[in-house]
Amino acid sequence: MQGNRTETVMFIFVILGLLVCTEAQGISAGTPVFVLKGEDLLLNVTKAVVLEDLDFISWKCNNSNIVRFTSNDKGVSANYDERIEFPVNNYSVKLKNLEEADSGVYTAVLERVKPENVAKYNVKVQDRVSPVNLTVVNNSVSRNSSSCSFTVTCSSQDSHINSTFTCDNQTCSQEGGERSEGIPDTFLQVHQLSGSIICNHSNHVSWTNDTLIIKDVCHQHDDPEGLSVCLVKMCVFSVGLIIMVSAVITVHLMEKLNKNK
Ligand SMILES: *[C@@H]1O[C@H](CO)[C@@H](O)[C@H](O)[C@H]1NC(C)=O
Ligand SMILES: *[C@@H]1O[C@H](CO)[C@@H](O)[C@H](O)[C@H]1NC(C)=O
Ligand SMILES: *[C@@H]1O[C@H](CO)[C@@H](O)[C@H](O)[C@H]1NC(C)=O
Ligand SMILES: *[C@@H]1O[C@H](CO)[C@@H](O)[C@H](O)[C@H]1NC(C)=O
Ligand SMILES: *[C@@H]1O[C@H](CO)[C@@H](O)[C@H](O)[C@H]1NC(C)=O
Ligand SMILES: *[C@@H]1O[C@H](CO)[C@@H](O)[C@H](O)[C@H]1NC(C)=O
Ligand SMILES: *[C@@H]1O[C@H](CO)[C@@H](O)[C@H](O)[C@H]1NC(C)=O
Ligand SMILES: *[C@@H]1O[C@H](CO)[C@@H](O)[C@H](O)[C@H]1NC(C)=O
Ligand SMILES: *[C@@H]1O[C@H](CO)[C@@H](O)[C@H](O)[C@H]1NC(C)=O
Ligand SMILES: *[C@@H]1O[C@H](CO)[C@@H](O)[C@H](O)[C@H]1NC(C)=O
Repeated sequence: MQGNRTETVMFIFVILGLLVCTEAQGISAGTPVFVLKGEDLLLNVTKAVVLEDLDFISWKCNNSNIVRFTSNDKGVSANYDERIEFPVNNYSVKLKNLEEADSGVYTAVLERVKPENVAKYNVKVQDRVSPVNLTVVNNSVSRNSSSCSFTVTCSSQDSHINSTFTCDNQTCSQEGGERSEGIPDTFLQVHQLSGSIICNHSNHVSWTNDTLIIKDVCHQHDDPEGLSVCLVKMCVFSVGLIIMVSAVITVHLMEKLNKNK
């Protein structure tokens, strides 16, 4: 009984803990926003505000000031002076030409007797992803009359993944086609779609791809192999023929020599 109750109490605490944690995380992180490097970002206040005489609203990035609005004026921090605009009349601000270094948590705080957050964004500025190469791993193609299997490597500048396919006719099964994460929030993924293998390199603002046509992979390696099998057969046959002919000639010669003795 005692043990059971302790367990129950602990269970409740764990659940409570989880709830508090997830909630805290949600609050602290803010709405996720992904921006392509070089683009502008309009940071909206999410609540209509009317400023009283002594109130002000300050926009901050990671707790350092960007701009401060009072009921009849605004002051911009020196390092944002050149790249901030006010296209709307509701305390929203536009940041121009974002760089990766501008990533961070942006908050708008309404400062009055009881301060209040009126916006919170978790901004990540990302560059375009680099191109990818999807290639068949050397000597990985194996084929028989009913199936063809091969391994591909998809590589980008900073990471790679391998994936093995086994195909009958047009349908392929894939093993090991995992999503690999290089730089955070960047993904490399191999999948198949209507007769092709596709590698997709993506982040939240861009993607690049490379494709291989399954038929090409399976046939390309079929032909040389077929050819070499044919060559081997021809060689064996020729060598056999030569040996037989020489044997016949030798026997013939021997007979002749023996007769001559
Ligand atoms: C702010 O609002 C504008 C227009 O409604 C929208 O295009 C923009 O994405 C919003 N910004 C954020 C950070 O959600
Ligand atoms: C402020 O204006 C922007 C752009 O029109 C809009 O997206 C945003 O929702 C507005 N905010 C409020 C609190 O009205
Ligand atoms: C804000 O903080 C984050 C995480 O600590 C950091 O990566 C980012 O560069 C900071 N942003 C700015 C503009 O200082
Ligand atoms: C794969 O084969 C090609 C051509 O046969 C060769 O150029 C390349 O270096 C090989 N790659 C590896 C990793 O062995
Ligand atoms: C062909 O190879 C696959 C695996 O590579 C195997 O499962 C299958 O039984 C083979 N079929 C024949 C006809 O040899
Ligand atoms: C391949 O497809 C053809 C028709 O498209 C079908 O007749 C044949 O049975 C299939 N072979 C295998 C191994 O699934
Ligand atoms: C892709 O391959 C080409 C030529 O094989 C090479 O020039 C290029 O650098 C490769 N790109 C990547 C991202 O590996
Ligand atoms: C992918 O395959 C290549 C060539 O076979 C190998 O060098 C590499 O270690 C493999 N990578 C992974 C992540 O399995
Ligand atoms: C690549 O991934 C991105 C993001 O998940 C998606 O929007 C895009 O359609 C994908 N492209 C291909 C060719 O699968
Ligand atoms: C891959 O990207 C190119 C442009 O980079 C595009 O033309 C092509 O359609 C894409 N492939 C797929 C399967 O979406």
